[in-house]
Amino acid sequence: MVCVSICTAADFKISGVCVGFNSGDQFWGIILGEHPDGCRGRILGSYPKTRECDPTLPRQTRDKIPTLPPRWLVIRRLSFWPPMIDKINSLQLQGESELVAAKSPAQVEIWRTKYLGTNGELKALMSLLKDAPRDQKPELGKRLNELKLQLEASFESQKNLLGTAPKGPVIDVTEPGVTLGEGRRHILSRTIDEIIDVFGQMGFAVADGPEVEDEWHNFTALNIPEGHPARDATDNFYMGEQSGVKRLLRTQTSTVQIRAMETQPLPLKVVAVGRVYRPDTHDATHFSMFHQIEGLCVDRNLSLVDLKTALLQFAHAYFGKDAEVRMRPSFFPFTEPSAEVDMKMHIRGQWQWVEIGGCGMVDPNVFAAVGIDPEEWRGYAFGLGIERIAMRRYGISDIRWLFENDARFLRQF
Ligand code: DAH
Repeated sequence: MVCVSICTAADFKISGVCVGFNSGDQFWGIILGEHPDGCRGRILGSYPKTRECDPTLPRQTRDKIPTLPPRWLVIRRLSFWPPMIDKINSLQLQGESELVAAKSPAQVEIWRTKYLGTNGELKALMSLLKDAPRDQKPELGKRLNELKLQLEASFESQKNLLGTAPKGPVIDVTEPGVTLGEGRRHILSRTIDEIIDVFGQMGFAVADGPEVEDEWHNFTALNIPEGHPARDATDNFYMGEQSGVKRLLRTQTSTVQIRAMETQPLPLKVVAVGRVYRPDTHDATHFSMFHQIEGLCVDRNLSLVDLKTALLQFAHAYFGKDAEVRMRPSFFPFTEPSAEVDMKMHIRGQWQWVEIGGCGMVDPNVFAAVGIDPEEWRGYAFGLGIERIAMRRYGISDIRWLFENDARFLRQF
């Protein structure tokens, strides 16, 4: 006989499970442990040595039970299997009652996580099944499955029940309202609108064109032939070919000149504003995307005088009556003659010349490309940089700030 006591593991300083085995529908384990007060005062009963009392045990298991001094040996009934059924039943009871107590969709969701979630109670219970005695597994498995279906069905019905209740936050109508911050338009958008407004008053209509262009509109029709350095791959954002046509992000709004002449009747007088793209390294004055305004006028008796007049009218209307325009001879493939455009503007107390674009008389080759008779028609064109105008006007020294969308910067304008 070995003196053993049935007691809870908490009473003992457990030093390890020595051996465990199934006997009938019970699981027995021999736990090695030491009671702080010694075993004596805690002995609740004495049991025959298991080896002798249970002849059904496999021999191997029985032989493993060590013979130890009584105060070290505790046999504890770790009876898992009937309690697993108990656990299933109590989980069902507990789950159902907690679900009924859940009175809001949020509480029902918390319940779902606790019971049906990946790390929930049900999963934990299911994970015990693998250790169940083989002959009980089918029954326990079936019962667990039923429990799962029952809990899921109860969850659905509770969810639907609460779903019909009024949703949304409870509004306290006596609370002071939230003041909405006043928004504002981006400084570039405002500049664009102001410029278009001025040209609108001068009789220009607004034209438009795509940002993804084909080579014909971006180069060929603008008298920039194949092999021209401006078409170099390193200076353009080329995109994949489409139906044999090479495409790229337009590098200039001059493309809209071609599109307007292809589609609109003559005479015509249009401006087009939009984004253009160039693979420039970003610094204070360069960005790979920026905005231009393009102007085109085609009529019968146009000359450089009309071009300069249009630019001067714009400068007066936009920068003030003392503004001036200067044209410096230059070269652009699509105009002949061509010039750089400078405008003298009043910037924070001082008059300054600022280079803002290019201009010229439409080259006869451009007219020919769109089927316009250069003997009958004349045209002038100009292209101005929107960022240049806005930056000088508002004293912005770094183009990158315009596109960082930092409200602290943009709020100033
Ligand atoms: N497209 C030119 C550029 O991006 C600007 C320009 C120059 C436009 C002369 C014109 C023009 O219409 O006539 O640099």
